[in-house]
Amino acid sequence: MVGAMRNQMALQLMAMLLLFSLSLKAVKGYPEELEISHDHERGFIEGGKGLFILGKPKKVVETDGGGIRVVSGYRWKADPNPMYIGFISMEPNTLLIPQYIDANLILFVQEGEAKIAWIKEDKLVEKNLKRGDVSVISGGSAFYVVNIRKSERLHIICSLDSSESLGYASYESFFIGGGSYPTSVLAGFDINTLIAALNITREELAIIMGSQKNGPIIYLNNEEEDILQYKTQMGEKRKLVADDDEEEQDGDSTWSWRKLLGYLHGKSHEHVHSSHAYNLYDENPSYENRYGWSIAIDEHAYSPLKHTRTGVYLVNLTAGSMVAPHLNPKATEYGVVLNGTGTIQVVFPNGSSAMNAKVSPGDVFWIPRYFPFCQVAAREGPLEFFGFTTSSRKNRPQFLAGASSVLRSMRGRELAAAFGVNEKQLEELVDSQSEGIILPSWTRHEEEEEEKKKKEKDGEAILIRKRVFFA
Ligand SMILES: *[C@@H]1O[C@H](CO)[C@@H](O)[C@H](O)[C@H]1NC(C)=O
Ligand SMILES: *[C@@H]1O[C@H](CO)[C@@H](O)[C@H](O)[C@H]1NC(C)=O
Ligand SMILES: *[C@@H]1O[C@H](CO)[C@@H](O)[C@H](O)[C@H]1NC(C)=O
Ligand SMILES: *[C@@H]1O[C@H](CO)[C@@H](O)[C@H](O)[C@H]1NC(C)=O
Repeated sequence: MVGAMRNQMALQLMAMLLLFSLSLKAVKGYPEELEISHDHERGFIEGGKGLFILGKPKKVVETDGGGIRVVSGYRWKADPNPMYIGFISMEPNTLLIPQYIDANLILFVQEGEAKIAWIKEDKLVEKNLKRGDVSVISGGSAFYVVNIRKSERLHIICSLDSSESLGYASYESFFIGGGSYPTSVLAGFDINTLIAALNITREELAIIMGSQKNGPIIYLNNEEEDILQYKTQMGEKRKLVADDDEEEQDGDSTWSWRKLLGYLHGKSHEHVHSSHAYNLYDENPSYENRYGWSIAIDEHAYSPLKHTRTGVYLVNLTAGSMVAPHLNPKATEYGVVLNGTGTIQVVFPNGSSAMNAKVSPGDVFWIPRYFPFCQVAAREGPLEFFGFTTSSRKNRPQFLAGASSVLRSMRGRELAAAFGVNEKQLEELVDSQSEGIILPSWTRHEEEEEEKKKKEKDGEAILIRKRVFFA
């Protein structure tokens, strides 16, 4: 009785805390869905089509040049480092203006081609990214993105992990370039401080701080370009005056303008070309059989992932195939459906179904650590999905079915006893699936059944015809 009451109070307290943290977010204007219900016992927050499907991404940027939509992975109170999944789309020949973020950013080019540039050890690093490329920008590094195609849109899927961010469970952009919209972080300094720090006149400063009003994604071929050019010219002017040694010791206050903007127009000599990006389509799959393939990379395969404590994966299932039921012992998983349709099934610890949801392109799902789950491609066509796993340590998925399952490793008297069957029955159960990891699914099984039935029917028809014939 006392226990029950204490439970009740704990629940109320949890609910209050949850409400409190949500209202805090609302006040601070974070992209966060508020029309949500939650499961008091576990603190799950239901977002969209199912408990483990995140809600529709919220627009955080919308300009003529493109948009950014973000969905929060903050769905489980026990998860200390929820992730944000972002979708950046940029029109041809546009720029996502220089900024830095208080979170590690992992980019995956879904469609198109990009140039990204960021500051690493005081140098500008640039990389051209094509479809399937993965790249990492660590928190606090100033960067920008350019859609270099002249006629194709650029689509990027990114993750932001808030583990190093300022506030709890969120992230913030600090724009370096900017004017009235967005506001440059420089605008927060005293005018006289800026004039002194940048060594420019009040008029020049007014132009820089007041010109840009088209938002975080801008076209590069209209008047903005002239403004950028003007700023660059000013940078160039100073560069002519300063000699190289001074340039090196130059304070932090000027590098951003000169290097970033100057570089935009190819006038900087202070950049290095980075080593290869990791392309998920070009590398050999980590696993492949006739039912599909998957590739998963962590810091061992691609060292820039080291400080992000995040892995990246891509899976392509053929029509009607499935990833064998499995669980992540060390990671929470986030996935985005790229192409095709299918279902995601997730199971509660008590063995009841937590979700069995249909998914289609653009849907974002998340799977808490330890929860058994599987992804199944629809019978109509292949299912392709991409995602992130949050783990610094090697996450070895544990399979519950198939040739590489824990059932098979554990087979024996003990497991048979646990299922209440004899060893022979267990052997049959464990051995009947010869494939591992990616399996033909029940839809395929069903198909076979249907085919068999059809054949039987055809057989019957033939039989009947024969009878009729011979009658
Ligand atoms: C500031 O700019 C002027 C020219 O516009 C130059 O003569 C002067 O040396 C600069 N000062 C610093 C500290 O760079
Ligand atoms: C995924 O697999 C299907 C065949 O099932 C194939 O047609 C498709 O090209 C594959 N997608 C990728 C991106 O490799
Ligand atoms: C999705 O897959 C189909 C067939 O597998 C393919 O024709 C189509 O181009 C793909 N779409 C995208 C956006 O990759
Ligand atoms: C299993 O656990 C979930 C979540 O805690 C709960 O909603 C569900 O009712 C439970 N089912 C059974 C059969 O106990």
